[in-house]
Amino acid sequence: IILDTQNSRKRKPTSSGAANSTGTGNTVGHSPPSTPSTHTPGGGIPVASNVNIAQKSSMVCGADGTSGFASSSNQMDNLDSFVDFEDNVDSFLSNDDGDGRDIFAALKKGPSEQESLKSLSLSEVANNRASNNKVVCCHFSTDGKLLASAGHEKKVFLWNMDNFSMDTKPEEHTNFITDIRFRPNSTQLATSSSDGTVRLWNAAERNGALQNFLGHSSHVTSVDFHPKLTEILCSCDDNGEIRFWTVGQNAASRVSRVKQGGTGRVRFQPRIGKLLAVAAGNTVNIIDIDTDTSLHSQAKVHSGEVNCICWDETGEYLASASQDSVKVWSAASGQCIHELRSHGNQYQSCIFHPRYPKVLIVGGYQTVELWSVADNQRNVVPAHEGLIAALAHSPLTGSIASASHDRWVKLWK
Ligand SMILES: *[C@@H]1O[C@H](CO)[C@@H](O)[C@H](O)[C@H]1NC(C)=O
Ligand SMILES: *[C@@H]1O[C@H](CO)[C@@H](O)[C@H](O)[C@H]1NC(C)=O
Repeated sequence: IILDTQNSRKRKPTSSGAANSTGTGNTVGHSPPSTPSTHTPGGGIPVASNVNIAQKSSMVCGADGTSGFASSSNQMDNLDSFVDFEDNVDSFLSNDDGDGRDIFAALKKGPSEQESLKSLSLSEVANNRASNNKVVCCHFSTDGKLLASAGHEKKVFLWNMDNFSMDTKPEEHTNFITDIRFRPNSTQLATSSSDGTVRLWNAAERNGALQNFLGHSSHVTSVDFHPKLTEILCSCDDNGEIRFWTVGQNAASRVSRVKQGGTGRVRFQPRIGKLLAVAAGNTVNIIDIDTDTSLHSQAKVHSGEVNCICWDETGEYLASASQDSVKVWSAASGQCIHELRSHGNQYQSCIFHPRYPKVLIVGGYQTVELWSVADNQRNVVPAHEGLIAALAHSPLTGSIASASHDRWVKLWK
């Protein structure tokens, strides 16, 4: 792969195959200084320091009476969400925004949702036990050709989906890696670590980290790239501090804070990137990045820590998983439109099915559950011998990956 020093987002996508975006390699030190595009309305990151996020309204979950906020208006919302439940589910299910993406074609053409779940399972395609310790995070590159995973071994593992060969990055983090995310359309990826740093790597090069982002004063628990302004990434730590970084720049461009600490998770809304979902402790917040205000937040969305948050492909729905339940939220209203209660498994991870947008895959101890939101049916699939700490999907290839404390990473279709 030939690397150049152009900033990839300025170039037209190439049709050449392998882990596209050959050009993102050497942006560090060569990338132009922060361009005006990072400040465009509808996705730009205004630069500010130490801004506390104003809490404008509350998330309300209709499906869980114990978690509602005390205010009477919220209780009203709570009632409404019960009344509107069928409508909400219907709109969730008719997830057709008319952009003709083939991802949804399978469902439209296929059998009814119920039948499809009955026949829907996961088959193991490949696996690796390259890590000698717990694996806690995994993510596919945009083109689906690489799966990156990491965890307690403190190293990045790269799994080539064409020939299943493994590669690793030098061990530079000095504590557990907590999250791993590819930059969109790129071979670059970021890791967050309990050592307090975020690092940027290039999977297409054999060398170590391209950049080390310093600033968090505690364990960094999650990281994510903006889906459009891909030079921007966001990380959070277990004190509820959120930092926005720009590739090639050392200092954080913005620092925000959510009220609660705990194991934080950050995930940008896909496609648009206007919203950032932040989980901290047992709260879930949906933050408007332009105004740095919290559109929806709820103090006790879950009875336990939120272990995972994930968006559906459209960016309209957010799912959150805690040990005893998974909830699906509408980003527009902040309402919980559906809930899956555990039958005893400890839910740790979740991801929307890459082919069936109304099916959520939930990872727990040893098993994954395929949950059809339509009819609340679930299929339980044995998958690992330990906790399934992370799930990933590739909408492009339809692949699903699971990473577990049992040290295995597995690939499913
Ligand atoms: C697998 O494919 C990649 C390119 O996609 C290549 O660089 C690598 O050498 C291959 N590994 C093996 C073991 O064939
Ligand atoms: C990534 O590539 C796809 C397909 O080429 C393109 O539609 C999309 O806009 C690209 N995304 C970014 C952030 O460059």
